[in-house]
Order: sequence, then C-alpha cells, then structure tokens
Amino acid sequence: MTTTPRDDPVVRKVFETYEPVVKRRERIRDPEKIIEVLRSEFKLVVKPYIVYLTIASFMNNRPVLYEGPPGTGKTEIGEAILYLWSGKTPFILPCSENYDEYRVIGDFHPAMAMAKGFNEESFIPRPLLAALIMGTGVLIDEIRRSSEEFQNMLLDVIDKRRIIIPELKKVYSQSGDEFQVVLTSNPLDIAQGELSDAFLRRVVRVEFKYPSVEEEYEIVRLKLGSLFGKLRDDDVLKAISIVNKLREKANYKPGISDTVTWLTMAALLAEARSRERVGDEELRQAGLSVLLKNPEDEELVNEVLR
Ligand SMILES: Nc1ncnc2c1ncn2[C@@H]1O[C@H](COP(=O)(O)OP(=O)(O)OP(=O)(O)O)[C@@H](O)[C@H]1O
Ligand SMILES: [Mg+2]
Repeated sequence: MTTTPRDDPVVRKVFETYEPVVKRRERIRDPEKIIEVLRSEFKLVVKPYIVYLTIASFMNNRPVLYEGPPGTGKTEIGEAILYLWSGKTPFILPCSENYDEYRVIGDFHPAMAMAKGFNEESFIPRPLLAALIMGTGVLIDEIRRSSEEFQNMLLDVIDKRRIIIPELKKVYSQSGDEFQVVLTSNPLDIAQGELSDAFLRRVVRVEFKYPSVEEEYEIVRLKLGSLFGKLRDDDVLKAISIVNKLREKANYKPGISDTVTWLTMAALLAEARSRERVGDEELRQAGLSVLLKNPEDEELVNEVLR
C-alpha cells in the first residue's frame, strides 16, 4: 500500500511542520546554467565536472557522494545544487555516531503514544521522511561519522525510494524526481569509519580537490567584493601560493574559506588603519591568526609568511 495524498494525516503534518521553513525558487536542470547561477547567486566557483556528474546522477535517481579534503566546498556546493535541482531548500542531516532512524524518519511522542497509542496522532515526522514526501533534496553531511546501522537504513531508503513506518502500516514513496541525495565525507579524517562496499556500490563518487590558482583567485575576487580593490594582484597570488604550500605540509590544512578570511581580514585591517592598500604587515598579521591553528605548525607558518 502506497500513500502520499494530501489528506493522509502524516503528509498533512509534514507540510504543516516543514513548509514554513522551505524556501522556493525556480528549478534549474541545465548544468551550464547551474554553473552560471552558482557563481552569480551563490558566489561559488564550481568545477564543471562536479555539476555534470551530480546532475547525471540525479537524472538516474542515484545519490552522489562528495569526497575530498576539508574546506573544499562539499557541503555548500551540495546544498546549492540540490536547491537548484528541486527548486526548494534542501534538508541537511549532520551525521553523528548516535544518529538514528528516529531522528531522521520519525518518532512517537512518548506521552501521547502512551495515552492514544502508536498512531498518526502521536507520530512526529522528521526531515528524511519530510523530504521524500515534499520532494526536496537531502544533504547527508559527514556520512562516515554515522553508525553502520544508520548507513544500512539509508541504503534501503535510497535504493527503494520509499520509507516504511511499520507502526502505522504505511509506506511513503518518492513521487517525481526532486527527492535527491548528496552525501559528503572526508576520507582523510582519521577519526572516521569506513564505508561498506554495499554502500559504495550504490553511490556515484565525486572527488573534490583544491581549486587551481585561477579558480581560487576568482573565488577571492567574488567573495571580497569591494574589499578586493585593497589588494594587489601579487599579494593575492602570494597568499594562494602560501595556502597551497600549507595544504601540502602543515597539520592544519587551510581550506578555501581560510584564504578568503585571511585576505578579508588583511583588507579590513588596512581599512581600519585608513590605508588605501594592504601592506606586508596586514598580510602577516591576518595570516598568522587565520593559518596558525595548530601549535606544531608555528615554525612553518612563520617561515612561509616571512
Ligand atoms: N568552490 C568554491 N567557491 C567559492 N567558495 C567556496 C568554494 N568551496 C568552498 N568555499 C568556501 O569555503 C567554505 C567552506 O566550504 P564547505 O564547508 O562547504 O567545505 P567542506 O568541503 O564541506 O568542508 P568540511 O570537510 O570542513 O566540512 C564555504 O562556506 C565557502 O565560503
Ligand atoms: Mg562539510
């Protein structure tokens, strides 16, 4: 039995609860147009292969797994593409070890369930079920931090595109193509577990890398806006070369947002000192506070900022 009509009490509850927090916009399905809008509206410079692979997977009803080093835009890019694909803001599920189906599919209000039983009235729908019913995207962040049990539960939902709630004797199925899933993971994070082969077989893996110098320059230009005028081209290029060195050698590997924050801070320091341009002093000061996050990097960071 498959139900998703609006007069179903759970469906009604989902819309009542979640509709107010879901923003809508025009759907975009053309990868070239998506790349353009990511840049102009979201200030994200995204490598075309990421967008093409993601859209091809969605067309195939397959989840994508974004893997790569920290701070390379996995979460923000996933969220933005899901938003553009379905025309609705996606739900974000930040994984942790004790994340379980009750937190993502649904739960029963304990007192109400005691009084009235395990029925629609005492049922509290959660984001994964809401996304399936409403036709919105889901971003499952840091999947490696979740338990194997949770991953198996997800596999079932992702494979069959439906959610069973045994207590209610109900099955909710995907209608349309808007319920799509992006998972993120950082395989270099040593605190994280392995993903099973069964899991990996079902996802399309998209590898994230650090941006090229040209891409990172463009990101800095986009994000700094009018502050960008306070920086010399040489300084921007020098900063990018320094973060790339640290990505190779340092314990704390600066992400894209570190480059942006560093140069924003340097520009604001110059502004606070009524200087027209950022000087070496501002670059160094801002650099130390943004790049030196691990005491073991002290010598290295001081050396590259010299
Ligand atoms: N391609 C990009 N274009 C523009 N900005 C970017 C890009 N990638 C990352 N950023 C900036 O870096 C910030 C961090 O990105 P995000 O949190 O999405 O990275 P992540 O890969 O999910 O990192 P983590 O592994 O730490 O979760 C974003 O808020 C964004 O401002
Ligand atoms: Mg992330």
